Parts: sequence; structure tokens; C-alpha cells
Amino acid sequence: MTDLDIRVLDDAHYRAAHTLFRGTLHNGPANDERWEQVRPSYEPGRTFGAFADDELVGTVQSFPSRLAVPGGAVVPMAAVSRVGVRADWTRRGALTALQRAQLRAFRESGEVAATLRASEGVIYERFGYGVASRFREVRVKRASARPRLPIRGRVRLVSPEAALPVVRSLFERLSRGRAGGIARWPGWWHTNVVMDQAEANRKYAVASGPDGDDGYVIYKVTPGSFESGNEKPTLLEVLDLWASPRAWSDLWAFLFGIDLVGEVLAEGRPVDEPLEWLPVDRRAVRVTDEMDETWLRLVDVEAALSVRTYRSEGSVVIGVRDRFLPENEGAYLITPSGASRTSSSPDFVVDVDVLGAAYLGDVSFGALAMAGRFAADSPEALVRADALFAVDQVPWCGTYF
Ligand SMILES: CC(C)(COP(=O)(O)OP(=O)(O)OC[C@H]1O[C@@H](n2cnc3c(N)ncnc32)[C@H](O)[C@@H]1OP(=O)(O)O)[C@@H](O)C(=O)NCCC(=O)NCCS
Repeated sequence: MTDLDIRVLDDAHYRAAHTLFRGTLHNGPANDERWEQVRPSYEPGRTFGAFADDELVGTVQSFPSRLAVPGGAVVPMAAVSRVGVRADWTRRGALTALQRAQLRAFRESGEVAATLRASEGVIYERFGYGVASRFREVRVKRASARPRLPIRGRVRLVSPEAALPVVRSLFERLSRGRAGGIARWPGWWHTNVVMDQAEANRKYAVASGPDGDDGYVIYKVTPGSFESGNEKPTLLEVLDLWASPRAWSDLWAFLFGIDLVGEVLAEGRPVDEPLEWLPVDRRAVRVTDEMDETWLRLVDVEAALSVRTYRSEGSVVIGVRDRFLPENEGAYLITPSGASRTSSSPDFVVDVDVLGAAYLGDVSFGALAMAGRFAADSPEALVRADALFAVDQVPWCGTYF
């Protein structure tokens, strides 16, 4: 471990931190115009830097957000992003020191959880993050994707300028209620929608039914080539789609009906989206990937366990280990009426990343024990825990950051 100085960065260092982070992903620095657009997403107090001899060698950042938990409550959540350590400083403890400082700051500022998207699967468990939701990638052969249902309402294309307020308010309404969902901060909309609005092939379609607007899709089309010997299908990529159950089939039927498109690609979709059931020929839809989505870190375990709801009649006592935030360590009694600390001995003990993985209900304690993530002497206690943590709908976030 090298001596590194961890500091909260201010405006004087944001651009250097951004350049450093981009470099760790093998991208060049943002040009002046791009930087002016990105700059507002650096909010005071949320970016840390690791310094070696006064030189910036690593950085982490977070955005202020909220996370929906099973039962519908919403908790303060830090969305961690822009994590990078300069290539000549990796594996010397820089990220560990940054994580330690960042988690401590989250705890002190009252965040109940932190979440992130991981570039690699082996980095974050050691810091207490567990995979709490998944998404899937779907490819649709448009020519054979004749939908069973016709468009029953109206789907209209909206200009980029008019789209932003419409899609923002639809997102607020339609994303509510599902565990794993997060609030999109102003900078998210700016970076992911406003900045890319000028992109020529980006389109915005809004669905409406008897009660008004109830769904939208943002998509992009890359024209293919019809040259003989060099044919390439025109590709339609679904970038963001939120819909009521009524509008859902209208939006997909609209996408499947767009002329000249060969393939529709949708990444980041929920694992329970019934897309293969929509076309007459279900083989028009292929699930081509399933990936970890939300890496969840419970920052305040007691608050997190207390705020979600539980099912079934039984109870269980879960012991928690947490190397980075030892105040989370202890035993927690979970019952259908809530959760609290207890002095009883635990039925089983898990590291905080394992608790994070099971927290939204995407994976059971039984499955995690079977995979060797923790030891459980009592299979019956796992059954009780799983009955309590069970959820009606798989968690999904749907917001990439
Ligand atoms: C991922 C990254 C930030 C790690 O930084 P780092 O300073 O090397 O991490 P640390 O030295 O604190 O490593 C802590 C531990 O994690 C392990 N580790 C960290 N990153 C790892 C990786 N990418 N692959 C395998 N192990 C890794 C280290 O070996 C070390 O293990 P140990 O405690 O058993 O010795 C850095 O490798 C990086 O910038 N990568 C490229 C950009 C990137 O992927 N960023 C993350 C975006 S989500």
C-alpha cells in the first residue's frame, strides 16, 4: 500500500478528474465544447481524488439519487460513477482508499444505499457491493416480428426540442413502483438526452391512449447497406422505453412496423419483459445477453432493512459483516412487520455484499448459499429468509449511468 492522499475535489480539479477517468476507459479528453456541457454534472462535494506527491492518480464520483425498495418506499441513494485509477498507479490500493473515503462520506451524509454499474465483475464485491438486479439484451428480426396486437392507441413522433419535458414527466410517472428503480438527476437528463439530441438519427415517439400520454421510446437508427456482397441490415436501437401496460405493446408494434429496419436491438431491458410473446412468431425475438445491472451497497443496513417490506409469517435473524462500515455489523431480526437490531444469535451470517444482492429480491439467500457465498447450517432458516424477502416483480432499474 502506497501513501496516498484522498481529497474531496473542487472546481479546480474537475476537468483533470474527468480526463483521468476517460483515460482509464481508453478515451481521449473531452474537447472544450463537450467539457462545458459535462461540467455541471460535477456537483460540489461529490468527487474524490487520490493524490500521490500532489499528483492526481485516481478518482471516484457520485450523483445524488433515490432508490425504490420492495414495498414502494424510496431511500436516498448515491449513484457512483466515473471510477478510475491511472494505469501506472493501479493495484496499489488507490481505489480501496477512495472507496473507504467515499463510503464514509455517504454514511455521514445520510445516504442509505449506493449503487453503480461495474466495468468488470471482480472489482466491487470487496467494497460491499452485490448484484441486486439484472437486465437483458434482446434482438428482434423485424421482418418476422408481426405483432399479435395492432396499435390500439396513437404513437406520434415528437421533435427533440418538444420531447424532453414530455419524456421526463412520463419517466417520473411510469418508473414509479418497481423496486430497483432510481431517480434520474438533472445531469443525467442533460448528459444522456439533451447533449445527444442533435444526433441526427435519434428519434422520440410518444404513445397515448384514452387517458392521454402513457409511454415513450427514444431510439436511434443506423442505416445499413444494400450493396451486393456487402449487405448490412439497418439497425434500430432502443435507448429508453417506458410504458404503461396499455402503451407497451403499442410502442413495440410501432417499432416493429418501421420500414427498412432489419434488426431491432434493445439493451438494458427487464428480464421479465414479455417481448417474445408479442410477435406471432416468437422466434423473431432472441435474448442475446443477460447481465448484472445494479451493484447495490447498503450504506446504512439498519435503515435499509427497516424501510422495505417483508412477506410470510415467520422470522429470521441475519448476522452482517462489514469491513468498511463496521457500524453496520451485528444481528438483525426480520419479521413481516419490519426489521430491527437484536442481541439474539443469528440464523446465518453474511457479508454486506451478499445482503445487498438479496435485498431487492432478485436472488434468494438459498441460491447464494448454494453458490458458496456464505455458510448456512440451517436450510430451514434459508427458507424462512427467502419467504420474507420474496417479491412479486423482479427488480429492475432501467437507468444506465
Ligand atoms: C478498477 C480500478 C479503478 C481499480 O483500481 P486499483 O487502484 O487498481 O484498485 P486497488 O489497488 O484498490 O485494488 C483493490 C483490490 O481489488 C483488486 N482489483 C481491483 N481492480 C481489479 C480488476 N480490474 N481486476 C482484478 N482485480 C482487481 C486488486 O487486485 C486488489 O486486490 P487485493 O486487495 O486482493 O490486493 C482500475 O483498475 C481502473 O481504473 N480500471 C480501468 C477503469 C475501470 O474499469 N473503472 C471502473 C469503472 S466501473
